[in-house]
Amino acid sequence: MCPMQMNREDFPILQREVYGRPLVYLDNAATTQKPRCVVEAISEEYYNVNANVHRGVHFLSQQATELHEQARETVRRFINARSTSEIIFTRGTTESINLLAFSFGEAFCHACDEIVVTEMEHHSNIVPWQMLCERKGMTLRVVPMRDDYTLDIDAFETLLSQRTRLVCVTHVSNVLGTVNPVGDIVTKAHQHDIPVLIDGAQSAPHFAIDVQALDCDFFAFSGHKIYGPTGVGVLYGKERWLDRLPPYQGGGEMIRNVSFERTTYNDLPYKFEAGTPDYVGTHALAVALDYVTAIGMDRIHAYESELGAYALQQLQQIENITIYGYNSPLSGGMGGAFSFNIAGIHHLDLGTLLDRLGIAVRTGHHCAEPLMRRLGIEGTVRASFAFYNTREEVDVLIAAIRRVVQMF
Ligand code: ALA
Repeated sequence: MCPMQMNREDFPILQREVYGRPLVYLDNAATTQKPRCVVEAISEEYYNVNANVHRGVHFLSQQATELHEQARETVRRFINARSTSEIIFTRGTTESINLLAFSFGEAFCHACDEIVVTEMEHHSNIVPWQMLCERKGMTLRVVPMRDDYTLDIDAFETLLSQRTRLVCVTHVSNVLGTVNPVGDIVTKAHQHDIPVLIDGAQSAPHFAIDVQALDCDFFAFSGHKIYGPTGVGVLYGKERWLDRLPPYQGGGEMIRNVSFERTTYNDLPYKFEAGTPDYVGTHALAVALDYVTAIGMDRIHAYESELGAYALQQLQQIENITIYGYNSPLSGGMGGAFSFNIAGIHHLDLGTLLDRLGIAVRTGHHCAEPLMRRLGIEGTVRASFAFYNTREEVDVLIAAIRRVVQMF
């Protein structure tokens, strides 16, 4: 039996009120709240350690460098990468994917080649690939979603060809909560020697990630969605791929030698990290990863699955509700996102009224306009959960929805 709540007291913001009501924060797919240890790690580093990394012989610079590089090792361990050379720090999932779209595109893509994405992607895993396709005269192929909110894997297989350069797929839909069969997708793509990028922005916060077991070639996630700071994220890539990619941006850090005649580039992962990194952010991200590791990703997954199952059961009892994704056998239950609409109430109105009752949800297209189009809607209300949420908060949400429904 899971506990009634987990580590809620570590999150000071959860004690606050909005509009005179206790905050019920259900917008965790957009960003998670930060435990005290993460906030304190940030101020502690600025107060006591701050100095630029990899540049100084002085004590502070060496200490800051050590924290920054330890953070890389923490990330490596967290996703079970083979080597820290495979861990590139970025500003977030979006930058990770843009980096890959540029560098992979330069190295491996030519006119008439194809990139495969899915109908479930966030804009961040569509637009960088569209931009690449425009630059190179390539084509974007889209794996359709079935009516049961799962990806059409048969259609996926038919899209793979000698022209396919890369498959880009979200691990967990930020709208539906659907967990995609990425293992199967990787296996099928690899049968054609096609590498795979997994967008892990919505999976890494909810269950243990093992990039070697997944055998994906690239994996991207954001710090701020996993209880870490904003502005820092990760691109994992297998070393044999990263070695063959040109740098994304030029500047300090990413070079070995510079002359006006010729510049040579640094080793991995620094080749992809031009400029001063957010070394305070990387350390704070490591603190966040250590924090969730100490709780246990399996415990988090078990707790959120139970909470998610309860939320789904309660939501399903509301009249005239459409929950997008609940047909999928793997969706919802993992405690991720629940998107829904109630007939006759605009999602923006419902979200706004829930806000006045102290409940933070996201409304709109959730940066997934093609998916909205597929569903034939403009937007949804999305309630998304973290391990600090409780059954009582689900009850508050359900009571608030009923109250709004009565107003219409
Ligand atoms: N990608 C974030 C979301 O889905 C912002 O809400």
